[in-house]
Amino acid sequence: MTIQADATQDNASKSGITPLVAGNWKMNGQRSSITEVMAIRDAILEAQNKPKTDVMICPPATLLMVLAELIDNSVVAFGGQDCHILEKGAHTGDISAAMLKDAGASAIIVGHSERRENHSETDDIVLQKAQAVHNQGLMAIVCIGETKGQRQAGLTIEVVSRQLAASVPEGATAKNTVIAYEPVWAIGTGLVPTLEDVANVHKAIRKALCERFPAQGANMRILYGGSVNPTNAQDLMSVENVNGALVGGASLKATDFLQIIDVYAPSD
Ligand code: PGA
Repeated sequence: MTIQADATQDNASKSGITPLVAGNWKMNGQRSSITEVMAIRDAILEAQNKPKTDVMICPPATLLMVLAELIDNSVVAFGGQDCHILEKGAHTGDISAAMLKDAGASAIIVGHSERRENHSETDDIVLQKAQAVHNQGLMAIVCIGETKGQRQAGLTIEVVSRQLAASVPEGATAKNTVIAYEPVWAIGTGLVPTLEDVANVHKAIRKALCERFPAQGANMRILYGGSVNPTNAQDLMSVENVNGALVGGASLKATDFLQIIDVYAPSD
C-alpha cells in the first residue's frame, strides 16, 4: 500500500470523523509524570497548526484527579484504564465507573488484552463493564484483537468479529463508544501488522458496526493500537477506517506522543 504524504488528513477529513489519539499509561506514572501531560497541553495550546484530533490520556487512577483538576479537558481529556461492573460495594481494590467519572474521567478503556489475559476477563465481563461506563454517561473504549496463534491460524477476522459482537452493548453510539483494534502480538513488541492487514480488519469492524448499529456505525471511531510510535503513526493513521490510535509506551513521553498527535496537524 502506498501512502501519500497528506493521506492522514485525507483519511480524517473524508470520513468526517474527528480522530482520537489516546494514551494508555498502564501501570506507569507517578506525580513526577504530571509534567509530561503539562508539556502535551502546552504544546497543543501553542501549536500554530492545531491538531484536528481529540487527545486523551488514561493515567493510573492515582493521577486521574490531580491531572483532571490541573488541565482543561477540552485540550487533553482524561480516561480510566478499567472499571468494575458495579457502581459501588465491597470489592476491595476495585474502582467503579462512577468513581472515575467523579475523579474527572470522560472515558474508560474496557477489555484491554492485558485485562482479558491477566484477569481472565471474558467478553461478557467486558460487555458489563462497557455497560457500566455507558450508565455513567461516559465513553467506553472497547478493545478487541487476536493473539499471534489466532492470526497464524487465519482466525483474525473471526475472533475480532466475535469479540466485537459480544463486548459492545446494545446502546452503543458514536458518542459513547470507541472501538480499539489491538492485535495482542503487536502490543509492546515493536511489531505491527502490514497496512493491508490493518485495512482489512478495520473494514470488517466497520462493516459489522454498520450492520448492527445502522444509524451510528459509520461514525463510530475505530482506533488502531499496538506499537504505534512517531515513526509508523503517519502510515497507520492514513489507512481507511483508522480513526486514531490507542498508544501505550509512546504515550509516556510528551515528545513522542506529540509527534503522533502531530500526524493530524494540518500542514498549512
Ligand atoms: P503499546 O501498547 O503502544 O505499548 O504497544 C498499546 C496498548 O496496549 O494500548
